[in-house]
Amino acid sequence: MTKSSSNQMWGGRFAAGPDAIMEAINASIGFDKRMARQDIDGSRAHASMLAAQGIITDTDAGVIREGLLTVLSEIEAGTFEYSAALEDIHMNVEARLKEIVGEPAGRLHTARSRNDQVATDFKLWVRDQFDAAEGAILSLIAGLLEQAEAGADWVMPGFTHLQTAQPVTWGHHMMAYVEMLGRDLSRVRDARKRMNECPLGAAALAGTSFPIDRDATAQALGFDRPSANSLDAVSDRDFALEFLSTASMSAMHLSRLAEELVIWSSAQFRFVTLSDRFSTGSSIMPQKKNPDAAELIRAKIGRIFGANTALMMVMKGLPLAYSKDMQEDKEQVFDAADNWMLALAAMDGMVRDMTANRESLAAAAGSGFSTATDLADWCVRALNMPFREAHHVTGSLVALAEKEGCDLPDLLLTQLQSVHGGITEDVYSVLTVEASVASRTSYGGTAPSQVRAQVARWRETLA
Ligand code: ARG
Repeated sequence: MTKSSSNQMWGGRFAAGPDAIMEAINASIGFDKRMARQDIDGSRAHASMLAAQGIITDTDAGVIREGLLTVLSEIEAGTFEYSAALEDIHMNVEARLKEIVGEPAGRLHTARSRNDQVATDFKLWVRDQFDAAEGAILSLIAGLLEQAEAGADWVMPGFTHLQTAQPVTWGHHMMAYVEMLGRDLSRVRDARKRMNECPLGAAALAGTSFPIDRDATAQALGFDRPSANSLDAVSDRDFALEFLSTASMSAMHLSRLAEELVIWSSAQFRFVTLSDRFSTGSSIMPQKKNPDAAELIRAKIGRIFGANTALMMVMKGLPLAYSKDMQEDKEQVFDAADNWMLALAAMDGMVRDMTANRESLAAAAGSGFSTATDLADWCVRALNMPFREAHHVTGSLVALAEKEGCDLPDLLLTQLQSVHGGITEDVYSVLTVEASVASRTSYGGTAPSQVRAQVARWRETLA
């Protein structure tokens, strides 16, 4: 007999109900209700298996499975009444099932525990998010490939230390992000594959004496296999941490691109124009168009990385197997997932909508003596100079151009020869930014031919 004031699920040995503060610190229903569908999927699979193994009757399993669908429809319709006294989604669903179907509901929890139940539900939830992330990353890659293809031969300055270094192509710069996102994609796929083992049937921690069929539930829920150690099954949260670290790495990449968009869209750079759809105005300065979406993407890495650190800290000192500390896994993952998806979608929109300003890019590409390395390389090739000496000669020519207030291609041949007598007219052919990028045909280099080859390779890989 359960006492009226104690918990109706586990209150058998309790004389009194919990203190209000106890309920507040203990209840997870406020957030774990997001796993309702996964919880019901898991329970339906469990009920079928119990019946197939002769542990409960087919009739009871049928009633339970139908009743769970009713509960799900109430949740989806928004009519379900959540109760903090029932702690979490698992007990909320089961209690409602009991109201709907009566006695058979009490048989559902045979040969399982909330420990394997929550691990299963949470894995299903995280797995869905990996799948959503995969789709979002693929879409962003497609948007970047469009940009890269359109601007495969548009010249722009390449930077190191944010100082003009050598000319590169717009397409090449876009493709750098495709490479990063490609690695993010492989991390998503890899982690998803590793996590796809089913904890259900590990029960509280030691397995069960009932003749369950763990392969059947694993298969029904789309897992590759049941997890092989019951202690590990209920206490592993690596999958959530791999999700968070994968999200962190991806968000870090998004943040770097966001930072570039913030710089590039400034009046000083004018490399890109962000669409109105992804910018905001200022309430006081009418001329302003602010890259808020990019700034927010840049900021979101903080909370995603924070979630990763927080869960690492929760897990690092826990003895086997389950401890209630682990209930703290969900809010971190939910928040990180929401913000990662939002960041991916916002970046996708910005990349597809932005316009690269070809003229501004080209004008900036030629400034800052960006073809100085080409000049040094010409000295090595045409004059058989050791590179160190060529570097020195070029340095003197840069100093001369700086003094004259002109760019390298504007120096007269006589001025060039005043620094090194061997320099000929031919040197001008390497001093333009177009010649500079076209010459960088080494594998992975910035030459338009290389960029187009990489775009084609990616399209083939993704097809
Ligand atoms: N709400 C709990 C969680 O999220 C479910 C598991 C509770 N298990 C237990 N033995 N109290 O972790």
